[in-house]
Amino acid sequence: MQIFGGRWSKPKFLKWAWLCGLVAIATLLLSQILHPTASGSPLAGGQTTVLNRSSTAYEQPAANLTATDLEEHFAGDLAFDAVFVTPPARVNAGLGPHFNNSSCVGCHIRNGRGLPEKGQLLVRVSRPENQKTDQNLSPEPASLNSYHAEDYIAIENTPPVAGLGTQIQDQAVYGQPPEAQVEINWQEHQGKYPDGTPYQLRSPQALITLSKGQPLPPQIKTSLRIPPPVFGLGLLEAIPDATLQSLADPEDQNHDGVSGRPNRVWDGQKQAEVIGRFGLKANQPNLFQQSAAAYVNDMGVTNPLFPESNSDIDQQTLKAATFYVQSLGVPARTLLDNPEVKKGEHLFTQANCIACHTATLQTGAHPLQALAKQRIHPYSDLLLHDMGPGLADNRPDFLASGTEWRTAPLWGLGLTQTVLPYSSFLHDGRARSIEEAVLWHGGEAQTAQKTFKGMKERDRKALLAFLNSL
Ligand code: HEC
Ligand code: HEC
Repeated sequence: MQIFGGRWSKPKFLKWAWLCGLVAIATLLLSQILHPTASGSPLAGGQTTVLNRSSTAYEQPAANLTATDLEEHFAGDLAFDAVFVTPPARVNAGLGPHFNNSSCVGCHIRNGRGLPEKGQLLVRVSRPENQKTDQNLSPEPASLNSYHAEDYIAIENTPPVAGLGTQIQDQAVYGQPPEAQVEINWQEHQGKYPDGTPYQLRSPQALITLSKGQPLPPQIKTSLRIPPPVFGLGLLEAIPDATLQSLADPEDQNHDGVSGRPNRVWDGQKQAEVIGRFGLKANQPNLFQQSAAAYVNDMGVTNPLFPESNSDIDQQTLKAATFYVQSLGVPARTLLDNPEVKKGEHLFTQANCIACHTATLQTGAHPLQALAKQRIHPYSDLLLHDMGPGLADNRPDFLASGTEWRTAPLWGLGLTQTVLPYSSFLHDGRARSIEEAVLWHGGEAQTAQKTFKGMKERDRKALLAFLNSL
């Protein structure tokens, strides 16, 4: 065989060999990006991933939207930002009479997490099960009570409080008293790592005063919730029910001390009980109902899913706000090759954090094509887990017990303080740092928490460096 003869001169061959080598390397790199091995991929949100780790990282449309999708996304952005006012007004009338804030973005600032403070913190309330109270806790006569959508989806173990529904609205339109004033007192707790390093945690206590000055009766159950980040949720909506069911292990058959289960909640459109995914106890079935409930409960804006005598907004506006949260992209992971981050990822797996914070999932079908069939890294199983008495609110929410919470997705976690100047973690924002959040883990996560506490300081730092790379 004559390789260098004829048309194949030596320099020409070398040029081709060089080119082939380049193509092979490029293909290898591309396959690493598209079909990453293990969980080590920068593409946290599959093809929706955005290469933006700046202060606007949570506000980017998914990278793979079509031109039409993108137009709809920007229309949705306007709905999400719209500030509602007291009727009569030409646009965005319908605020109140009771509300917590006047726009979605007022709580979900830059789509990031909120603070446990007035205007962002929600207090959910319910009557103890099987206990009837005739006392109306509303500031107005019963006939003037504002509509409470929660009553519409009221369920056995979360009975609404007469006059308050299942959420306290601590603001009201001009001339009307709010339902209550909420004040938070912080209790400090001192602790020590086994190596002697001290740490400090804090937990909130809500002081709730009803409009006539009387305290909220002590038998009323309360649950404090801060707004979680709202990007990547469309992908979570696109995870097949069957996947969530396969992750569940309610009887802990694999004996790892972790026994997640999906919440079962009411779907108002389907008029059926379905798996819950959204909200901090997974108490909403989908983003449409989550958004509709936010309009009516958080802003007092009635809508086609939760109308009163009329709707303050039409179906199109409700769909636009829903589309906005569905079509946000997920920020890319960073520092994949950093040795400390790599070690931290290994420790995260070793400590069995992944028993709940599932690293990799595959989405199924979704009406928004961009969300379908994506390999994603949310670090959540969307299941409910008993997190122990320290984090308990003792207020059930559908199937979720008073100690159960939905595994918080950890994607984008490291950008918390890039997006906003403060950080507040866990359902009520008690944790001022990621480290404090891990230290609060108890119940099913007790073993993982103990493993974290028992690590050498440099290993704890590596684990936190990994979380900050998300
Ligand atoms: C008063 C503050 C406030 C306002 C206003 C508000 N939200 Fe929220 N949002 C929250 C809180 C708190 C939660 C967690 C609720 C829970 O666990 O029950 C939440 C949860 C969500 C979730 C679910 C996130 C997840 O991880 O499951 C979505 C989606 C959402 N809100 C969208 C909206 C939209 C759309 C609007 C406007 C129509 C809106 N929110 C208005 C505070 C607010
Ligand atoms: C048994 C399940 C489980 C295990 C194991 C577990 N977590 Fe969690 N994690 C949760 C749940 C549930 C929440 C939400 C709790 C809440 O909001 O009160 C959470 C919240 C967090 C948060 C706060 C996120 C936020 O947005 O506020 C961080 C950080 C975190 N976990 C890290 C870890 C690390 C690190 C480990 C391993 C050492 C771990 N988790 C093990 C279930 C678990």
